Parts: sequence; structure tokens; C-alpha cells
Amino acid sequence: MNDMSFSMDHHWLPFTNNKLFHAEPQMFQKAKGVRYWTPEGREILDGSSGLFTCAAGHGRQEIAEAVYAQIQELDYTPHFQRAAPISFKLAEKLAGILPEGLDRVFFASSGSEAVDSAMKICLAYHKAKGEPQRTKFVSRAWGYHGVNLGGTSLAGMVGNRRDFGGVTCDVVHMRHTWNEEQRFTKGQPEDGADLALDLEEICKTYGPETIAAVFVEPIAGSIGTVVPPKGYLNKLREIADKYGILLVFDEVITGFGRTGSAFASQEFGVTPDVMTMAKALTNGAIPMSAVAVKREIQEAVISSVQADRPELMHGYTYSAHPVACAAALATLKIYEDDKLFEHGKALSEVFLDGVFSLRNLPQVSDLRGYGMMSGIQLTPGDTPGAKGSIVQRRLFAEGLHVKATGDALIFAPALVSTEDDLAAMVDVLRKVLGASDL
Ligand SMILES: Cc1ncc(COP(=O)(O)O)c(C=O)c1O
Repeated sequence: MNDMSFSMDHHWLPFTNNKLFHAEPQMFQKAKGVRYWTPEGREILDGSSGLFTCAAGHGRQEIAEAVYAQIQELDYTPHFQRAAPISFKLAEKLAGILPEGLDRVFFASSGSEAVDSAMKICLAYHKAKGEPQRTKFVSRAWGYHGVNLGGTSLAGMVGNRRDFGGVTCDVVHMRHTWNEEQRFTKGQPEDGADLALDLEEICKTYGPETIAAVFVEPIAGSIGTVVPPKGYLNKLREIADKYGILLVFDEVITGFGRTGSAFASQEFGVTPDVMTMAKALTNGAIPMSAVAVKREIQEAVISSVQADRPELMHGYTYSAHPVACAAALATLKIYEDDKLFEHGKALSEVFLDGVFSLRNLPQVSDLRGYGMMSGIQLTPGDTPGAKGSIVQRRLFAEGLHVKATGDALIFAPALVSTEDDLAAMVDVLRKVLGASDL
């Protein structure tokens, strides 16, 4: 089983310093619950639910069985003018947990595909409503919306745009919502709702009639968990409504219980027009993503096309893949049967207390968190942005996997974690972040 006789020359790893990786490989061979094991058999606690994917923990038998049965029953079906019952069942199930009114679901395979699909749906909607000039998008500094060309255009993390000068979409960025006064705030900052007025300013500068949609992550995840100030998302909703702009929440990380509710939209009491989701939709076991839209958006697009052609000229070979649908249905059943969203909500206080107990360590310059996701801002080293990778390798050596971006760690364990699991993870963090020689 543990055959290590292979060349590492051929696989070009994504979002990885391949030279460094080859010098010091960090691999996982096996996973169960909130633990990974390396090929050498060393145990590594999973402090980031894989990549915010495995909310129900690794190695769920129910998902494995559903996938195995589905491949035997119907391994693949195209979805262009064809379908299988299972995708309708999944969409119906999702509609049951989505925010009120967002009950039309388009499927894709990754968060990036969901984002680009959402952008195209917004454009198609405005065209259907007789406003084809609404082609501009608004997003936010520090935002992450995947890596396809639409999502790269929306990106507010400059490192993700820098090497790709010719990206095509017309995007204007609002400011991010973090400021110095927020350092070490647990939960939502009190001040900063007025930063949403950036959207109003952009409307004045470019003309609201040119803007299709505003995309935000309700909690900015990849940058290191930046929690929205109280009232900020409500204000974005008001301004978007005032100008006929669609509000899109990218819930690829925040969906499926991460914040304590099914979606951050419900947690913060703000309903977008369009929502993207992926990752924990299938507990990470099979690639799948989705875009949920308000009923009237789908109806507008569908009723605008009279000819016998697809109303939305968009879709993927793997849209609504039946095996992914089976994985998603089994995952949603686990969330429901095991009451995992409620469990995550109940665990959040212990989790955030653990995170905030790291406050005075030499490598910690800020802590942020909400629900079961947190950001640990590291004291920057000589090269800004390099500390995360250094700390990440040290944590791996000490037995903890955590996602790092620049000088931040994103610590977001699975919703099935026990208090003991969390304490063990925080102990490793304390040991590594307490070092002064990093
Ligand atoms: C908010 C958000 N949108 C989109 C994506 C892209 O998802 P994927 O990597 O599945 O394409 C991510 C990935 O982390 C994300 O956090």
C-alpha cells in the first residue's frame, strides 16, 4: 500500500512552491475523522478541515457507500438536454436549507466554476431584463473568488492577479473591512458598517446602470478570516437594492455550518440574490459546487428566450455529475442526522476561546474568528508574506495541518471535532507560535 517508488518530477502542484516541496515533501497517505497520517505513519491533526472541505470529518463511510452504489447504478450522464433524477433530488434538498427564496440551483464542479457561472448568470439576467449594459462587477480588496478568469478578475488578493495581466472582466474594488482598531476582536467588529458606502461611491463614479453585481465573501476566508463589521452586509444589501445591482455571496468556505448556521447569509440575516457554494457540499470527497439563485432570476432568464435553444448558454461536462450528487446527498444527510451545524455552533465558544488564548505569543499579531473559522495573523518576518509558509512547515513537523496565506493562518477544524481535539490542536499552535526564532 505504502509504495513510495515514484518520481515526483511530473506532477506540477497548484498554489505550491514546487522547489521547496521537492526539497521537503509534506504528504498525506491516509485520513480519518480529524486526523491525517503521513506515508511514514506520523499522525497530523487536521486544523483546516482539509481545505475547509471536510466539515463532517474524513473517511465517512456513508459517503463512500453512496458513491460506490451510484457508480454501479449510473456512473455518468450528460446534462445538456438530458438529466438524471438524482440531481433534482439534490437541488430540492438544498433548497430546503438555503435562505428563503434562493431555491433554484445550478451545478458545477469547483468553487471557481461556481463563481464564473454566477457572473455569467448575473449578466444573462440583466440582458433578459433589458439592461445588457450592466457588465461591470464590484468586489472587494482582500477577496478570493477562485482562480478562473472571472474569479481572478474579482480577486482582491493582489498576488492572485499579478501574473495574469490580460484578465478580461471589468471589476472595481471596494475597500476591505479590517482596520487597526479591530485587532483581537472575537466575532463581528462593532464599527465599520459604513465601509459598505464604497458601493455607493462606485455607483456615483461609474453609473449604477453599468453595474451587474457585487460579489463578497460574507466572511473573507482565504485572506485569513476577516469578519464583517456589524451592519456592513445589511448596508450592502440596501445599496444594491437601491440601484438594481445583484448581491452575490460567495459562500464557498462559509457554507454548510461553518458560521453556526447553514449559510452565513442566515447567520448574519442578509439574503443575497445569488450564492455560490462548494467544498463541504460533498464533504470534499468528490468535486462539486453550486450556484443558488432567487427564483425570479431563473424565471427572467428562462422566459426571455423564445427560440428552441438553451436559455443559458453555459454548462460543464461534469455539471450535476451523478456521483457527486450522491456524495452531496449523503453529506447533507450526515449534517442533518448528526445535527452538525448545531454541534459546530455549540463548539464555537470553546474553539474561539482556544484561539484567543494564543493572544500574547510572540508570533501572533492579530486574532479573528467567527463560528468555527479563525484567522491567526502572524508577526511578519523580514520578507512580508513569507511567515505563513515557514510556520505552516513548522506546524506540520509538530503534527498539525493548517492552511496558510501570506502572513496568516486559517484555522478552521471540522465540525465533528471534540473539545479534546481542539485542545490538542491549540497546544501545537501554542508551541510553535510561542517560539521567538521564526
Ligand atoms: C470564497 C471562495 N470562492 C471560490 C473558491 C474557489 O474554489 P475552488 O478552489 O474549488 O475552485 C474558494 C476556494 O477556497 C473560496 O474560498
